[in-house]
Amino acid sequence: MYYVDANVFMNWVLGLILTTAVLLLITTVFLSSYRGRRGRLMSYLYMLTALFGCIGLAVAALGFRGQHSSARPWHLFLDMKYQPKYTAQGESRFFPDGRAMRLPVEGTIPYDGTDYAADAGFHAGPKPDFLKADRRYYLGVADPTATETKDGVTVPKDPTWAGGQMTETYFVARIPGEAVERAGGWEPLLQRGRQQFDVHCAACHGASGRGGVGAEAYGIVGAYGLTVAPANLTAELYRSQPDGQLYNTVANGKGSMPGYGHQVAVQDRWAVVAHVRVLQYAHNPPGGR
Ligand code: HEC
Repeated sequence: MYYVDANVFMNWVLGLILTTAVLLLITTVFLSSYRGRRGRLMSYLYMLTALFGCIGLAVAALGFRGQHSSARPWHLFLDMKYQPKYTAQGESRFFPDGRAMRLPVEGTIPYDGTDYAADAGFHAGPKPDFLKADRRYYLGVADPTATETKDGVTVPKDPTWAGGQMTETYFVARIPGEAVERAGGWEPLLQRGRQQFDVHCAACHGASGRGGVGAEAYGIVGAYGLTVAPANLTAELYRSQPDGQLYNTVANGKGSMPGYGHQVAVQDRWAVVAHVRVLQYAHNPPGGR
């Protein structure tokens, strides 16, 4: 393809102007000694020489196009280019550790609800939590391909029951053992679950989990602020849901209930699920009453 480098082209133009300037100067000097310094022709020559000379001086001061310079560029209009601020990865003489970027205060809960895992570790000792690869624990999903079509929409496949046992389909049937391990056993998991449920869920569903709106509401928000009733978590419908589905509702919400994944950490979501099971059990003791 035919291509003209703009810098090279402009330098040729500048070169031509400079050559003209030099030729004009020589002509002016020569003619002034030969024909005298006055006259119409001479005044034109002076003018042209001055004009081209000015351009020549400008080129001498500014340089040719494409020329490199290590000098700081001229900023006639500063706008807000130079501000007293810290930039990413910058150095700070204020903080003792020399970093401008600060680590979160100890105990900070990141807005995405996960535990602080911004470090992938190193090759010999990678941090498994960084990639969140374990989808049973992080998503509550057992088999993402187990979907079915209802009213023309693809949805997670409902579990099937046989002899009182749930067959695992899309969602994990039971709280992953990892969640119990991390909590240090069932007892601490349940305690944490109760505490987290009372903080995050009770406002709407009530401490007993029975939900409702208006006069029948068990939760304070349900009593005054909602038009859609928070579900009665002790109802049969939610008792028969897999643990993974309850986990998913906590993380991502369902219907008009917002998700709480941004403020309830992964481990705590499982603890909440465990507590929901406790509430269900308390309302529906085996054998009935
Ligand atoms: C802001 C009020 C509010 C809070 C807080 C809240 N929920 Fe809900 N929840 C609702 C409402 C409203 C519904 C009914 C949604 C619908 O039917 O559209 C609901 C429905 C549910 C359902 C049934 C979902 C389904 O499958 O239909 C479950 C399970 C649930 N909530 C669990 C929880 C848990 C656990 C928490 C605490 C992490 C929680 N909710 C916090 C308002 C809330």
